[in-house]
Amino acid sequence: MANNFDVIVIGGGPGGYIAAIRAAQLGFSVACIDEWKNGEGGPAPGGTCTNVGCIPSKAMLQSSEHFEHASHGFAEHGIEVKGVKLNLAQMLGRKDSVVQQNNDGILYLFKKNKVAFFHGRGSFVKADEGGYEIKALGVSTQTLTGRHVIVATGSNPRALPNVAFDEKLILSNTGALAIDAVPKKLGVIGAGVIGLEMGSVWRRLGAEVMILEALPAFLGAADETIAKEAHKLFVKQGLDIQMGVKIGDIKTGKEVSVEYTDAKGESHKASFDKLIVSIGRVPNTIGLHPEAVGLQLDERGFIVVDEHCRTNLPNVWAVGDVVRGPMLAHKAEEEGVAVAERIAGQQGHVNFATIPWVIYTSPEIAWVGRTEQQLKADGVTYKVGSFPFLANGRARALGDTSGMVKVIADAKTDEILGVHIIGPMASELISEAVVAMEFRASAEDIARICHAHPTLSEATKEAALAVDKRALNF
Ligand code: FAD
Ligand code: NAI
Repeated sequence: MANNFDVIVIGGGPGGYIAAIRAAQLGFSVACIDEWKNGEGGPAPGGTCTNVGCIPSKAMLQSSEHFEHASHGFAEHGIEVKGVKLNLAQMLGRKDSVVQQNNDGILYLFKKNKVAFFHGRGSFVKADEGGYEIKALGVSTQTLTGRHVIVATGSNPRALPNVAFDEKLILSNTGALAIDAVPKKLGVIGAGVIGLEMGSVWRRLGAEVMILEALPAFLGAADETIAKEAHKLFVKQGLDIQMGVKIGDIKTGKEVSVEYTDAKGESHKASFDKLIVSIGRVPNTIGLHPEAVGLQLDERGFIVVDEHCRTNLPNVWAVGDVVRGPMLAHKAEEEGVAVAERIAGQQGHVNFATIPWVIYTSPEIAWVGRTEQQLKADGVTYKVGSFPFLANGRARALGDTSGMVKVIADAKTDEILGVHIIGPMASELISEAVVAMEFRASAEDIARICHAHPTLSEATKEAALAVDKRALNF
């Protein structure tokens, strides 16, 4: 039967489409069902990441950074630019075409790898001896059966209670990436990853940005030294970041008005042209009908899985944002690959201890492994080496000397326990640390490896040397 597959993947984001391709590479017959629609109602695989997440946000971060450099940064290099003008429609159009290139790329990869793609919503119907029956509801309804099912249905933005996203005034990440005129005043609720990235984009393009954060500590998941440095730099750039606030009534009219109390308990009311609500994301199982087969969810709506992404049902697996763990595209991809390999009888595995985090602000923030706070809490004794980009020749040549690299190593064994970077190209620099930690390298290993000169990566080598108190250039 044509619609009978070894593996059916529900969801075509980074978790799902990568799982589908890997399963096909391993020789399985594979179907992937994804419901995302582009502006014309056609298929747009790639999920949140490709359509309203990683890719469009990085396109807007890049464009807005060019705008800021052209407006304020080139003069220092002896380049005089007059009359810099923003063409926001062109910028948004470019972002959309970058997204479309990625959608098309995934459709091409499906064809190349002989993955059968179904554009529509996948729902569990029943389980029987042959496997699972899945309904794919798109332009037409198709019934598929699969011996294995991989659920990769992703996540949705969390809304504030009683404040629905209208994507006109109250924006999720979707609306935040498509504002068609730079707001004079932009409010952001939540100083997390989206709040900082999107707040940076619109500030660079000319908005006055106020970020309201509930927690008293800035970027609590990052190493404290890095978080403090980031806070200082973002405030200097002009982001108005209010910590420890409690959000009260939010009303919409011509503008959005937000009542809140500050950290001292004083009441305030602020008005914004637009309000981005970026307070985290919730797992998405809408339309999946997990109850039809008894697929177990936890109290927060995540599909329950073990460390190998096995659900409570035989041959049903789940990966990415819809299961526990960080909501990151590369984590979803790694899980997708590991599951496909496990289905093939291999030992696919994800090392959660070496998943890197990156915040694509300027400067970028990236880390892998444990922070000083976590090591203290875990009772681990450690040594720290830091090196500022101010003392790095390449950073000076770039004209981008803010930030540092910080290496944390075990006090007894010298094994690297965490690397924390704030600075230019931190997103690329962190890979060296990930590789080192995967191979359980010591700080001395990095210190002894030849790094090209002049590169930003020399700051990592110097920070590793500093663990042993022998940095050469500082
Ligand atoms: P998703 O990407 O959400 O994909 C799920 C797919 O399944 C969607 O296409 C959805 O339509 C489809 N689907 C859902 N239910 C069904 C169904 N029943 N039938 C058929 N299809 C269904 N992560 C990073 O690592 N780096 C970044 O720079 C980054 N930037 C981000 C920026 C923003 C603004 C946002 C919101 C997120 C960002 N993320 C980033 C997070 C990243 O997007 C997610 O972690 C990642 O997309 C999760 O992948 P996934 O495959 O689990 O789910
Ligand atoms: P987040 O978890 O990063 O940040 C949410 C922030 O909102 C937190 O600081 C939280 O304390 C705060 N908050 C929660 N409720 C609040 C309230 N009622 N009032 C004020 N503040 C409140 O979530 P965010 O930014 O929405 O992003 C969701 C996820 O998407 C991220 O956790 C990340 O996994 C992923 N992402 C990753 C990116 C990357 O890798 N560069 C970029 C963007 C998103």
